[in-house]
Amino acid sequence: MSSKPPIVLGIETSCDETAASVVRGVPPGPGEILSNIIFSQIAEHQPYGGVVPEIAARAHVELLDGIVERALDEAGLRLGELDAIAATAGPGLIGGVMVGLVSAKALALAAAKPLIAVNHLEAHALSTRLALGTPFPFLLLLISGGHCQLMAAEAVGRYRLYGATIDDAIGEAFDKGAKLLGLSYPGGPQIEQLARSGDAKRFSLPRPMLGRDGADFSFSGLKTAMSLIAKKVAPLSERDRRDLAASFQAAVVDVLRDRVHAAMQQFRTEFGNSNGNLVAVGGVAANQAIRSALAEAAQSAGFELSLPPPALCTDNGAMVAWAGLERHYLGLKDPPDVSPLARWPLQALGSA
Ligand code: KG4
Ligand code: ZN
Repeated sequence: MSSKPPIVLGIETSCDETAASVVRGVPPGPGEILSNIIFSQIAEHQPYGGVVPEIAARAHVELLDGIVERALDEAGLRLGELDAIAATAGPGLIGGVMVGLVSAKALALAAAKPLIAVNHLEAHALSTRLALGTPFPFLLLLISGGHCQLMAAEAVGRYRLYGATIDDAIGEAFDKGAKLLGLSYPGGPQIEQLARSGDAKRFSLPRPMLGRDGADFSFSGLKTAMSLIAKKVAPLSERDRRDLAASFQAAVVDVLRDRVHAAMQQFRTEFGNSNGNLVAVGGVAANQAIRSALAEAAQSAGFELSLPPPALCTDNGAMVAWAGLERHYLGLKDPPDVSPLARWPLQALGSA
């Protein structure tokens, strides 16, 4: 490998964001984001109250070429100047994942560059290294629309599960809760907004799994309780919606705090006192109330807290480019016939 920091293009199409980015850097980071183009399809999906896979896949097909071109233009680079081409290969909506991966394969072939098939969850996990240069090992809280898990991140490709949701993902809980309040998709940011001026003590909602052994989560009971209250109080006034949003968010925050606390203890037991770094990534980690609660929890346990900026928490191409860069740096690449995967847990990644 040359001594110049590698430059990698990353493509993200696993859900409703079509994104491409060019990053440069050397692990553990921080890396330099040379361009980061993102097109959110929210408007296309809003009438349906959630992401429609067929619509997403078609939109990715229409948008991706132009977005890759812009990512290269803004970085001031030609394809031939890249060191590798990375794309999310799963997990996600398979139609969209195929669009991104096939494009990356074509670009890699045309430019004779290595192809890196990136696990979307690993891209979230490593976004903290792109943003802050976080060293391994760290305790990873991955909170997104499709996932809610706590893991020990030991190295690129090496993750051990401490706990995960046994039903809904946390972002899903936010989105379903928002729907009950008559808010549009995606609901997380809107709940956060409403909750700012609401009374979190007005409605009493359950805190599932609080105090339980291990670090698993559960959110479906919370959603059911919220739905019962919403029906009882209906029609909801603006005040009711604010208070319910605040009560819901407070319950989620309490559950997260408790589960993270249990996981920090486990991490300490395994890695010793000097290695306490809590990292939160994924779309829900953009939530300010959650960020503050995690800061408090980390401080009280003597952990450092690493939070990528909100724009790197939600889906983006830079995290995919960076995960590709980390794998490329270790000499890893994928064959041109690598398959997209709808399901691909982080623990299943081969150790680098
Ligand atoms: O990581 P992400 O962009 O996509 C997935 O890989 O799932 O996460 C999207 C999820 C959605 O459920 C959205 O409602 C939630 O993250 N989200 C938030 C906030 N911003 C995004 N949830 C709570 N508060 C936020 N500020
Ligand atoms: Zn994501």
